[in-house]
Amino acid sequence: MSEVVLLTGGTSGIGREAAEILAAQGAIVLFTGRDREAGREVLLAVRSAHPESAGEFYRVDFADFEAVRELAREIRADYDRLDALVNNAGTSQSQRRTTEEGVEFTFAVNHLAPFLLTNLLVPRLRESAPARIINTTSALHENGSLSDLEAVVRGEEADGSGAFDGLDAYADSKLANVLFTVELAERLAGTGVTANCVHPGWIPQTGLVRNSTGFARAFTGAAALVASVAPVGPFESVEGAADALVYLTTSDEVADVSGAYFDRRERASPAKVVGDEELRRRLWRRSAELVGLPASVPEGDPLA
Ligand SMILES: NC(=O)c1ccc[n+]([C@@H]2O[C@H](COP(=O)([O-])OP(=O)(O)OC[C@H]3O[C@@H](n4cnc5c(N)ncnc54)[C@H](OP(=O)(O)O)[C@@H]3O)[C@@H](O)[C@H]2O)c1
Repeated sequence: MSEVVLLTGGTSGIGREAAEILAAQGAIVLFTGRDREAGREVLLAVRSAHPESAGEFYRVDFADFEAVRELAREIRADYDRLDALVNNAGTSQSQRRTTEEGVEFTFAVNHLAPFLLTNLLVPRLRESAPARIINTTSALHENGSLSDLEAVVRGEEADGSGAFDGLDAYADSKLANVLFTVELAERLAGTGVTANCVHPGWIPQTGLVRNSTGFARAFTGAAALVASVAPVGPFESVEGAADALVYLTTSDEVADVSGAYFDRRERASPAKVVGDEELRRRLWRRSAELVGLPASVPEGDPLA
């Protein structure tokens, strides 16, 4: 039977490439994005990559938590198994924007939406065990800080100035990805569902900085040129980055690994602060509160 994989952010960059590879391997690839036209294109590619394997596009804006809930309901109604969830959608913003709930956009899209989606889908993943959760983080998580969590939620620098720094907000959200992964793996121990996170390399040619400043875009454009000639060192090709995601999703070599941080295919050490259990728990409790879930998740079934 074909594996069912839900991959968020499948309409561009790393996710788009990974969707096609997974489909070519015979998986039923369900993927999300906001861009309907890109969704249509990727769906065609996914279906032609392996004519027998079905695929589905779900249009969801992750800044809208009700839409994330609806996605989880739809997936659970449409599929009685889910072998892997790849939380890959991500954004980087140059201007401070907030969701309806008043949460800074980067933190909402990159951390809270996958936190919510994952916890709503854990019951289906548990029923399908062995199953896997993979979170796309970044080596930039090392620059993040969640010691003033409320400032991060509001999108303000921790120095009290009230200023917004898009790169800091991005790094904070990627640190949240790693803390979430480790805490989730602990809470899922013994269920047959693993949780790992991955830095896919630095791939300047994706669409990640499309909402960033002119300087970030110009710098990234120059880096993309270098990377296209020589994807070495920290640089990675889109294919190489997608390979890392696919490896963690399907390889037997990592079937029993959980709570780990990978730099592409290699296990690596995350930032020291990831070992701070109190911080992990505090982030978990506050994230649950912000998305309207009980802090006891993933125990129980919030959709039951
Ligand atoms: N590129 C790098 O160098 C790099 C390095 C380390 C980590 N990463 C991580 O890799 C992941 C993929 O990024 P990428 O480089 O492939 O960037 P990308 O080309 O911009 O792809 C991002 C994906 O996320 C989706 N997305 C963005 N905002 C969204 C929102 N509000 N709601 C729902 N979906 C949204 C996009 O879909 P739509 O455009 O259709 O909405 C797209 O499919 C991200 O988590 C990123 O943080 C990237």
